[in-house]
Amino acid sequence: MTIQSPLIIAHRGAAGEAPENTLAAFQLAVEQGCHAIELDVHLSKDGEVIVCHDATVNRTTDGIGTIHDMTVEQLKTLDAGRWFDEKYEGERLPLLSEVFDLVPRHIMINVEIKGSYNRQLEPALIRLMQEYNRVDTVVISSFDHKSLLFAKLIEPMAKIGLLYDVNAVRHAALADLLGTNVYSLHPNFKRIDKAEVQDAISQGLQVYPYTLNDEKRMKQAIEYGVSGIITDFPARLRALLASP
Ligand code: G3P
Ligand code: CA
Repeated sequence: MTIQSPLIIAHRGAAGEAPENTLAAFQLAVEQGCHAIELDVHLSKDGEVIVCHDATVNRTTDGIGTIHDMTVEQLKTLDAGRWFDEKYEGERLPLLSEVFDLVPRHIMINVEIKGSYNRQLEPALIRLMQEYNRVDTVVISSFDHKSLLFAKLIEPMAKIGLLYDVNAVRHAALADLLGTNVYSLHPNFKRIDKAEVQDAISQGLQVYPYTLNDEKRMKQAIEYGVSGIITDFPARLRALLASP
């Protein structure tokens, strides 16, 4: 089997070097030559898809509150960069539509659904993907596999990726989703081995483990033959892939 060079997937943007899940982090990742961007989404009170890892704004902004209890107008007053470094003061929580506007279309976007919000997020996400002509360049992932099934029901062309932490979960999830055209597996790298990666790839699945930040793990993943590596340090992975 030929081993392909893995995709560089920038976790929450270049989150090791810029405030996670901001336009600055996505821009930096693009400049560093990533092939794809991973980001996390929630739904605002007024039904917009907001890019943020946590359900609250407490950790990554200067505000306090739950995203789903806040309107876009309220969310946009918050500073999402200064907590990381004062040079990023003024960064805002992005709307997913703003990321679609910023990131060139040839770069894949892995949208991780963090909360379904009574199944209101999936239709809003699919609407945006259709409106921005991103259906074929987005991979929707989630630990909530029912949410993925729902997204696929709304848009059969959507690519879905199973996030999982332990092998048993993966196998149960795969059984559940058989016939729904799972595009990719997103395992915790610490819990997989080469045989499992090769087995999935031989079934036609992409394998994108998370989150690999040191060279030793990156090299191990390359040796396993993974399809992509989710990392906070896309420039580090790019340098490693370019080295002889
Ligand atoms: O998508 C892979 C990874 O991002 C899952 O964990 O907590 O960083 O969203 P987390
Ligand atoms: Ca994530």
